Amino acid sequence: MTPVSVLDYRRLAKERLPHFLFEYLDGGSYDQVTLGRNIADLQDVALRQRVMRDVSKIDLSCTLFGQSLAMPVALGPVGLAGLSARRGEVQAARAAQKAGVPFCLSTVSACALDEVTRGVKQPIWFQLYMIRDRGFMKTLLDEAKARGCSALVFTVDMPVPGTRYRDYHSGLAGASGVMGGLRRFWQGACRPYWAWDVGLLGRPHSLGNVAPVLGKNTGLEDFFAWMRGNFDPSVTWRDLEFIRKTWDGPLIIKGILDPEDALAAAAVGADGIVVSNHGGRQLDGVMSTARALPPIAEAVGDKLSVLVDGGVRSGLDVVRLLALGAKGVLLGRAWGYALAGGGEVGVTHVLKLIEAEMRVAMALTGTTSVHKIDKSILAPL
Ligand code: GLV
Repeated sequence: MTPVSVLDYRRLAKERLPHFLFEYLDGGSYDQVTLGRNIADLQDVALRQRVMRDVSKIDLSCTLFGQSLAMPVALGPVGLAGLSARRGEVQAARAAQKAGVPFCLSTVSACALDEVTRGVKQPIWFQLYMIRDRGFMKTLLDEAKARGCSALVFTVDMPVPGTRYRDYHSGLAGASGVMGGLRRFWQGACRPYWAWDVGLLGRPHSLGNVAPVLGKNTGLEDFFAWMRGNFDPSVTWRDLEFIRKTWDGPLIIKGILDPEDALAAAAVGADGIVVSNHGGRQLDGVMSTARALPPIAEAVGDKLSVLVDGGVRSGLDVVRLLALGAKGVLLGRAWGYALAGGGEVGVTHVLKLIEAEMRVAMALTGTTSVHKIDKSILAPL
């Protein structure tokens, strides 16, 4: 099958990845209600079809946080993405650079900041959680600065990791020790291409950014226990003063679903927020980002730039979210599937698909510039 959509790449990812890695990428928390809502509510957003408006030239370019982008899209942070293809985060960052959009490296990536930044010419974004050891956080922030990262994405919706049944069933969660290792090894062996490309040639398999605090471990022995042990559940807005003081570049707070929290982010001096429920991976049952976005965008106005993620499977979805009030859209699983299904080439292809789909959606709504996309292109249902 030649992939022609994000969902085609999802099918390829399922065929190619060891079971525990596909389940981690694809899954959400508990009954995956919010994961489903993100997709369904976005698909329910109806657009106004407009005709006879000269759509021969369509401009997707924009500026976000002082950076010129080819389109208002970024590759958002995806944990363990580097295990989807050989040194995967480097491949994805290269694809993003080629497409003229930012790549954001997750704290819990396989490749470390220095490996990814050495692999690309453009600056990348770096995502960070509130880690208990503030000294280590400072080290990571200094490293991000030294490596020229052009924005810090600070994730606030994970003081504790959500419970994802699929990870327990697959053996990524709650299966530490020799038996857990053997289970994952066997799942890897059942995917011969992955076993050769990533399992054998893609080493080391560890959480690159946090390697200094892992000792002889890799962080994968019990990934969620590592997160529970190291993420700081006592975090409040006051802790952000520490981040704001330490990081003088653009600061984007990710994981906002409520207008009051959005205003609090503006009050601490954030430059942007990401309206996000962590792809339905944290609190199952919360509302979709498509529903949360309009009141948040309305509440913050021009105080900061509002980005969004969740359920984006096409350029049409990107246009829908821009119409609901976002200035930019982060892709998560969409690029994760593409990386697993086709490496750098796959991510490049998905970014081309997103761009082409945006162009078609804009042409058929009679919109010639991303700056002109607003709620006027929404149709009442
Ligand atoms: C990490 O951010 C995860 O969702 O697992």
